[in-house]
Amino acid sequence: SSRIMLGPLVAAIDQGTSSTRFLVFNSKTAELLSHHQVEIKQSFPKEGWVEEDPREILQSVYECMERTCEKLTQLNIDISNIKAIGVTNQRETTLVWDKETGEPLYNAIVWLDLRTQSTVELVIIFPVSLQHKTGLPISTYFSAVKLRWLMDNVDEVHEAILSHRAMFGTIDSWLIWCLTGGKKGGVHCTDVTNASRTMLFNIHTMDWDPELCSYFGIPMEILPRVRSSSEIYGLMKSGALTGIPISGCLGDQSAALVGQMCFQDGHAKNTYGTGCFLLRNTGSKPVMSDHGLLTTVAYKLGRDKPACYALEGSVAIAGAVVRWLKDNLGIIDGSEELEKLAASVGTSYGCYFVPAFSGLYAPYWEPSARGIICGLTQFTNRSHLAFAALEAVCFQTREILDAMNQDSGIPLNQLQVDGGMTSNRLLMQLQADILCIPVVKPSMPETTALGAAMAAGAAEGVSVWSLSPEDLSEVTSEKFEPQINPEGQTWLPLYSETSIFSSVPLGFYILG
Ligand code: G3P
Repeated sequence: SSRIMLGPLVAAIDQGTSSTRFLVFNSKTAELLSHHQVEIKQSFPKEGWVEEDPREILQSVYECMERTCEKLTQLNIDISNIKAIGVTNQRETTLVWDKETGEPLYNAIVWLDLRTQSTVELVIIFPVSLQHKTGLPISTYFSAVKLRWLMDNVDEVHEAILSHRAMFGTIDSWLIWCLTGGKKGGVHCTDVTNASRTMLFNIHTMDWDPELCSYFGIPMEILPRVRSSSEIYGLMKSGALTGIPISGCLGDQSAALVGQMCFQDGHAKNTYGTGCFLLRNTGSKPVMSDHGLLTTVAYKLGRDKPACYALEGSVAIAGAVVRWLKDNLGIIDGSEELEKLAASVGTSYGCYFVPAFSGLYAPYWEPSARGIICGLTQFTNRSHLAFAALEAVCFQTREILDAMNQDSGIPLNQLQVDGGMTSNRLLMQLQADILCIPVVKPSMPETTALGAAMAAGAAEGVSVWSLSPEDLSEVTSEKFEPQINPEGQTWLPLYSETSIFSSVPLGFYILG
């Protein structure tokens, strides 16, 4: 059958904040052949705290792999064609485990978690030289302060460090260590993109930085070895894919940049996941932001390949607002209903929603900010609230796009997008209207996984990836053109001169 002609396949584990996925692609066409997805539970043990269970995360990976392999077999596709596996993951989320028992010593502290707010507020002076080394402002967002909290508050972590049994990792390190054998010889590593989010990594020397580690009091022996984003880290040690190399590793936002083929200086993409992350490739030079953006490692696709950097605008809450409306307020049953409700009114009627559940990230970096909903009248109903929630995602993106344009001096003339929320067509149109530039969405939405699979397939010693520029021209996309005339918009000049805070009470932005 035609299936026999498929050739080598590449796969990716996409471990996000809200769900885990395993996806298998044809390496010649980038066609998605099969996948499986499992939702991840989050716990909120105290106000502002967000945790996930590392064992459940690992289990979800195995489950997704097994189910995807079953689906491929049903499609008559031989799973022995899978030649490489890439890992891509929610970044910054921090855990410590015991290398002798293989057990986590506490839940994973999720990137959104605010328990380190007081620590961050105490660090009034984070020396400029250290900020320059990391490319990051001091914030609850990054791993170093979370790791410090674990060392100070969890006896098991403290003891494991004293007895040299502790291993620190972000989710990529945890998964690769477990999948390559765990306590029986698992590989303890991370890649440069994930490392660049810890605040312990020097983005100029491309290694852990002793000065940063001593600033946060972190013993360097618990850190994973830092590798490039595309090389063989180890082989799968169990399950249906035993023996297949794990040969790609990228933080999810970097993977999306690769999957969207943003390989040139100036190329950018915005991913709408749990949060929302706009990354712009700045080539071989780390560019420091004057407008509240992060400097981060974009990728390094091979041991001997150069590193590429990116400017990043991070928004903590995007898709998470949908889950909140569903789980906490119970006013929708999912994202489809949200879109339907919002479309039924087509306006928020002056209702504003600032979902600062985890403080505000770029460009403010204000951990003490909290969410508000305002502009309510007796007329307001859940449809208006739904519309305001979508607008909130778009306004936050507008702010980081403005910062990005100011930093780089060359405004983006369109925005490449991906991620779960981009299936919401109303959101995409609203985004184009609010940015006043076209929004372009690829027809294959799994660009994050594709990027990790590409990195895995391109690794030295694997090299199955064969997507050529000619094939790329066949990658189809959909374009949303802005439909409101910027001249006619009262809100536009007001918005660009003010912050999300000060624009809120103005309340006279009415769409259309
Ligand atoms: O920095 C956090 C980011 O990597 C999480 O991505 O897709 O889970 O929102 P996502």
